[in-house]
Order: sequence, then structure tokens, then C-alpha cells
Amino acid sequence: MVTYDYIFFLGSHPTLSAVEAWEVLARSELQVRLLYAAEDRLEVSLSGVVPEDLLTRLGGSNRIAEVRGTFSQEPSAQDLWQILDRTDMAQKKMTVGLSVVGIPRRQAATLGPELKKLAREAGRSLRFVTARGGGGQLNAAQVIFNTLTRAPNRELSIIKTKESYQVAQTVQIQDIQAYELRDTARPVRDVQVGMLPPKLAQMMLNLALSRLPETGSQVILDPFCGMGTVLQEGWLWGHQMIGADISQKMVAASQSNLAWLESHFSVEARIRPALSVHDIQQAIDEKLDQSIDAIVTEPYLGEPISSPLSPAEADARFTNLAILYLSAFRNMLPLLKKSGILLMALPAYRAERRRDDWHTLPQSFLDSVTDLGYSLEQLVPEELQTVYPPTARGSLKYARPDALVGRELFRWSKA
Ligand SMILES: C[S@@+](CC[C@H](N)C(=O)[O-])C[C@H]1O[C@@H](n2cnc3c(N)ncnc32)[C@H](O)[C@@H]1O
Repeated sequence: MVTYDYIFFLGSHPTLSAVEAWEVLARSELQVRLLYAAEDRLEVSLSGVVPEDLLTRLGGSNRIAEVRGTFSQEPSAQDLWQILDRTDMAQKKMTVGLSVVGIPRRQAATLGPELKKLAREAGRSLRFVTARGGGGQLNAAQVIFNTLTRAPNRELSIIKTKESYQVAQTVQIQDIQAYELRDTARPVRDVQVGMLPPKLAQMMLNLALSRLPETGSQVILDPFCGMGTVLQEGWLWGHQMIGADISQKMVAASQSNLAWLESHFSVEARIRPALSVHDIQQAIDEKLDQSIDAIVTEPYLGEPISSPLSPAEADARFTNLAILYLSAFRNMLPLLKKSGILLMALPAYRAERRRDDWHTLPQSFLDSVTDLGYSLEQLVPEELQTVYPPTARGSLKYARPDALVGRELFRWSKA
């Protein structure tokens, strides 16, 4: 069997991003084998080439690169040229970006003149680009601006591994502009309500969808839809989204944001999300019973805070929020199909500034959810657990470095 080795470069939340990439691949038609996993990247062997639009479906990975060569010593300009040389020779001019991972940046710069010389000797003209900014890798804007994923241009990365050097060619790069637009150009934004980043919404959807028995278009509910970020990301990938919120104002906000999405992105009007004002503490229409494949949601996370909470303050908040959450859990259960999935972002409060130390929902709360008829699932698949250790309760954390309120992601299935 012909296999292809790919490296997925991971975003700011490596565990979450690696789990997402792994689960989406595991659900594809390709056979997947894990080769290497680390904080910055996940390397896999696939039984075919990666689907063309794969990266646009992943919120957590920022580049996919195909491994084109492995060397026992640091690759020379000649080694790189041989990899480049296989590309479209009909075009005289080419731009080559060179990134480095695990070796000093200046190493990349020194290869430039030699590469240009080799190109000249082959009757071609080569423009050479290296990383701008702090790291050794070109940023996404440089890759996009210089069209480095399109032949004859290339971005190559030299990656130092424990025992060798790899050279990988970038085949897909994150469309940073599309995410930026979907995050900040929407007509209604409100930082006070706590906006879910579109990338996180996309990851949450992927972690729910990967566990559903069927593939393809699904019916997905967000009963705390707020400004509609989950609805927007789900609609974009062809799912029938249903949104509800207790606040008329928020439902109107979702409506405007979704209308904006429709005019700026390609979405199907036929499956335009259905919206309604509803307090999830009240039972939802019986007509929806057993009609929902997945519920993906971020509920109210408590009032914004400006300083870390004491353990007692955090407990008091959790006690109050648990009343809302448990009544939501009770009303959501009948809506889910058999083996339906509930993926939720619940709050975690930072115990001390700049420390990775968190107040989290008590175990007694999770036990109550189980008693209602949900079964808590481990989010980190077994294959990845040695590199990305799972928490005892199977959850995954998502928090910006300075944020006082983080999110703890949980996945339940209908028991
Ligand atoms: C954290 S926001 C959700 C943010 C959303 N994911 C987004 O990115 O826009 C929580 C939402 O829950 C809604 N909410 C609070 N209590 C509710 C209830 N009992 N039933 C339904 N919605 C509720 C609020 O109006 C708010 O819009």
C-alpha cells in the first residue's frame, strides 16, 4: 500500500488541536497510523493523499505539510533542490519559502544563496523567503501572500527530530483571513457576553461529529446560541443547525450574524438555521424529541470577572450555575437521538493570575449529569494518550493565556 506521511502543525491548544485532527482523519476514508506527536505537531501516515479542503475543516491546525525526505544530517541546499527540482519545470520563476523547526533560524537564511545558485544553473530564477517575526516558520500570511502552496512555488520546512532531519512541503495553509472575518467582521459582537472563537466552535463541532454513527449532514442544536457562532460554523459545513436562546436580543443577534454569513460565505439557504426564543430550563417542544444528532453548546459561564476567584467564590458560582445546567441537561436529553452526542464548553476559573491552576466544576455535578442518563466520554483517544495525557474526567481545557475564565470541554453520549 502506498502511504503518505503528513505533519499537522498545531495551534495554540495542542492537545485539543491534535485530538481534532486525529478524530477527523479517523473518520475519513483513509487509513491512519500515528508516527509522532508533540506539543507543536502531529505526524501521521495516511493511505492516500489528504483531501483538498481538509485544513479548512480543522479549527486547531494551521498547516499541513507532506514529508518529502528524511536525512541523517542537516539537509544541504543540494538536498532541498532535489526535492524542489521535481516540481513543475516548465515555469522559469519560482518562490521558495524555507522554514525551520528545532534548528536556528539563521541556518535557513544561509541556504538561500546556494539554492538560488542551483536554480540559476538549472536555468531558473528563484526568489527566497524566510520567516519574519519570532519563530523559525514563515507565518500564514507570508505563505498565502507568496502563494507558496501553489506550484512551482513551495514552502519547505526543515524539522529536526530526535534522530534525523525531515524536509516537509506545505500542502495546505490556514485561511487566516476567513477566520478573522468570521470572528471580527460579524455585525453583532459583544465581548461582555463572552464570544466563542469560531475556531473553537469548529473544534467543538468536530469532536461531537466524530462520535456520531452517521457521517454527512447532521441535525445539531445549540440551546444557548448567543451570537450564533456554533450555528454559523455548523451551517458552513452543511449541517442543519437549530438555535435557541432565552434572550430575544441574542436571537436577533444570531439572526443578523447568520444573514451576514450568508452574504459573505457559501452556505445553503435550504438549510438556513432555525432560531427561536426559549428558556432551556423549560421543556422544549415534544415535536423535536429524538430528532437531534448532536447538541454543541457553550452555556452562560457566569458574570465576567476582573480578578481571580477564591475557592469559596468559585464554589458559590458553580452551585448557582449547576442549577441552570442540570435543568438544561434534563430538558436536552429527550431531544437527542439514541447515541446522540452532547459536547459542552463549561466554565473553569483561574485560581491565580498567570498560573495554570483552575477551579473546576465539582465531581458531584458530573455525577448528577450521569444520573440524568448521560455517559461521560474520554475526549483524548487512546492512541494519543501517552503524549497528550487525559484528565481523570476526560475533559479538555481551552483558555487564552491571560484569561480568568477558561472553558472545560466535555463530551457526553446519551446513555
Ligand atoms: C456564553 S453565551 C453563548 C455564546 C455563544 N456560544 C456565542 O459565541 O455567541 C450564553 C448564552 O446563553 C443564554 N442563556 C442564558 N440562560 C439561558 C437559558 N436559561 N436558556 C437559554 N439561553 C440562556 C444567554 O442569553 C447567552 O446568549
